[in-house]
Amino acid sequence: MADEVTSQSNSLEGKVAIVTGGASGIGEATARLFADHGLRVVVIADIQDEKGEHVVTSIGTHRCSYIHCDVANENQVRSMVDWTVQKYGRLDIMFSNAGILNNHQTVLELDLSAMERLFSVNVRGMAACVKHAARVMVERGVRGSIVCTASASASVGGMRHTDYTMSKHAVLGLVRSASRQLGQHGIRVNCVSPSGLATPLLCQAYGMDEDGVEGVFSTLTSLQGLVLKVNHVAEAVLFLASDASAFVTGHNLAVDGGLVSSPHPSQSRPPVVT
Ligand SMILES: NC(=O)c1ccc[n+]([C@@H]2O[C@H](COP(=O)([O-])OP(=O)(O)OC[C@H]3O[C@@H](n4cnc5c(N)ncnc54)[C@H](O)[C@@H]3O)[C@@H](O)[C@H]2O)c1
Repeated sequence: MADEVTSQSNSLEGKVAIVTGGASGIGEATARLFADHGLRVVVIADIQDEKGEHVVTSIGTHRCSYIHCDVANENQVRSMVDWTVQKYGRLDIMFSNAGILNNHQTVLELDLSAMERLFSVNVRGMAACVKHAARVMVERGVRGSIVCTASASASVGGMRHTDYTMSKHAVLGLVRSASRQLGQHGIRVNCVSPSGLATPLLCQAYGMDEDGVEGVFSTLTSLQGLVLKVNHVAEAVLFLASDASAFVTGHNLAVDGGLVSSPHPSQSRPPVVT
């Protein structure tokens, strides 16, 4: 007879989490949602110090801290993880989310220096965060949860953002490999894959305001009448971070209204993502 399965909640009671890229957009919304679900403390790691400190103040300094960390720099990532463990005694959740998007990067016009800069954040930075979070979890016997932000661009080719699409495909490879290797330690590794939503990252790259970005992406999915917001993504991250997903690992959770799997009937297959 299998062990009895008890109902697992999405409470984060007593847990310690790091959110990279937590000063803005998806990371900020997730840090706030984590704090609302009983987390002991959430550490926001970002390079936008003023915005990060502002988020900390609004969540409350008893439950939230800010640390400057450029995820492209492995020493800074190691120090950020060590600082968290020294100050709060453990690390249960790593939400590795920081990322950047270049403007037009078609294959024919590919700026390789810009591509390297993007890879240093989206691939190298993601790997450094997974590596150092996993190391402290293994050392301390913590059955932790690591969640990365991939993208709908991890599953289909793009028309414009070649380097970004490549980098998000790499995140899938990282998550799938890390989940296989870390399962023996009880550590789960998953990712979320949102479609386009109006954060500073996409508004800047598209040169559009929020309404403009939302107008572009709302026509692409079969699911109509709802626009993707940061909180939809944060709820998916909360599920993967909490015990509600206790037996889920190596999973890519699409938060895209069907963009990749069931695009709007007017779209050609595969859909144009970016
Ligand atoms: N907005 C979208 O349409 C969309 C869709 C799919 C996936 N994503 C992914 O979501 C993640 C979050 O992006 P967002 O949309 O919330 O954008 P955002 O610009 O609002 O937030 C990104 C945050 O990452 C931080 N950051 C950038 N480089 C960093 C570095 N080197 N070290 C530490 N922090 C750094 C930024 O300062 C910013 O606070 C990214 O990985 C992005 O690729 C976004």
